[in-house]
Amino acid sequence: MPVLKSRGDSIEPLLFQKYPALKGHIAWQSLGNFPTPVRKLEKLGKEIGHQNIWIKQDDKSSDAYGGNKVRKLEFILPEALRLKRKTIITFGGIGTNHGLATTIHGRRLGLDTLLVLVDQPVTAHVQENLLLFHHFGAEICRAHNTFGAGLRTIGYFLTRPGLHFVPTGGSSPLGALGFVNAAFELKNQIESGQLPEPKYIFLALGSKGTLAGLMVGCRLAGLKSTVIGVRVAYHWLANEKNTAKLANSVISLMRRHDKAVPDISFSEKDIHVVHDFFGEGYGFATSQGKEALGLIARTENVELDLTYTAKAFAALLDFVKKHRELGNTPILFWHTYSSVDLTTIVKQDHDYTKLPGSFHDVFQTNMIPYI
Ligand SMILES: Cc1ncc(COP(=O)(O)O)c(C=O)c1O
Repeated sequence: MPVLKSRGDSIEPLLFQKYPALKGHIAWQSLGNFPTPVRKLEKLGKEIGHQNIWIKQDDKSSDAYGGNKVRKLEFILPEALRLKRKTIITFGGIGTNHGLATTIHGRRLGLDTLLVLVDQPVTAHVQENLLLFHHFGAEICRAHNTFGAGLRTIGYFLTRPGLHFVPTGGSSPLGALGFVNAAFELKNQIESGQLPEPKYIFLALGSKGTLAGLMVGCRLAGLKSTVIGVRVAYHWLANEKNTAKLANSVISLMRRHDKAVPDISFSEKDIHVVHDFFGEGYGFATSQGKEALGLIARTENVELDLTYTAKAFAALLDFVKKHRELGNTPILFWHTYSSVDLTTIVKQDHDYTKLPGSFHDVFQTNMIPYI
């Protein structure tokens, strides 16, 4: 396995320190900069009249490409290497951040990536990510919809050796372990006085790995925080039942290798999902999201995206507004979108005709303001 720079804080995940038997069974490779910083949103707090809002900056989880996927890939990619697979095959929308993270970090470990992509509204971000998939060497295939993506994937498995399947968003039980670990990281930050224990944690809920992993992790780490997923994907994918199922699979995976992991379980009732900020559909911006994005950019210089994090932050702002009785209860916003600036690459390498012809219509109108 290629050797990369290891974490500044430790050479193994906190999870392995807590449950040492996992170490021999679950592959892991450091890919990011952890722990990610936490800070109080002072100026924003003053403006909205709540002095205890915090941010966990997973946007800074890697210098190559950050966001929430890095934690998942630290478990997913080494497993592919362990199985001697050559290529990661995964699904997503045509602007998938998970696809980009997998391509960039996979390449660092010598793995190729094949992305099977379904349609979503075309935005500048979608066009940028498509150009970046190509730039970083991913093979891309347009399947239009989920059914088509399933058929294409079966076709690839029948014809190509060495593929390693990763579900949408990296939300396998193995990927979600990254967020179990994240809860232990948060606990250390609380214990060392960097932030108070949050009463509520808000994050975007898409393919569920982030929410499921963090809920399991909080329970195991003894944190009392209520983790709230703000649904940004379709209900059939992102719902309470599926999240509980994934959380239980994470526990089963851990207990299979280490019986010291307590036999806990989650039901639908344990999962907190806010459904009202989704808007018209996946990838469609909402006016509340745009407002939330503008507010945090102006007051705190934090950059959100309109598909995931702006909707999650809008839900947090609405919650604070509607629950004045909370006083200054600590609330944490988990930032999951990469803040690494890849615009220089897009500026230099934006000839979309190098992409397969089935993607050219996405570029009919250029939406990227700087090219
Ligand atoms: C920026 C961002 N935030 C949040 C999410 C949602 O996380 P999850 O898919 O683990 O629910 C994603 C998923 O792609 C994402 O790209």
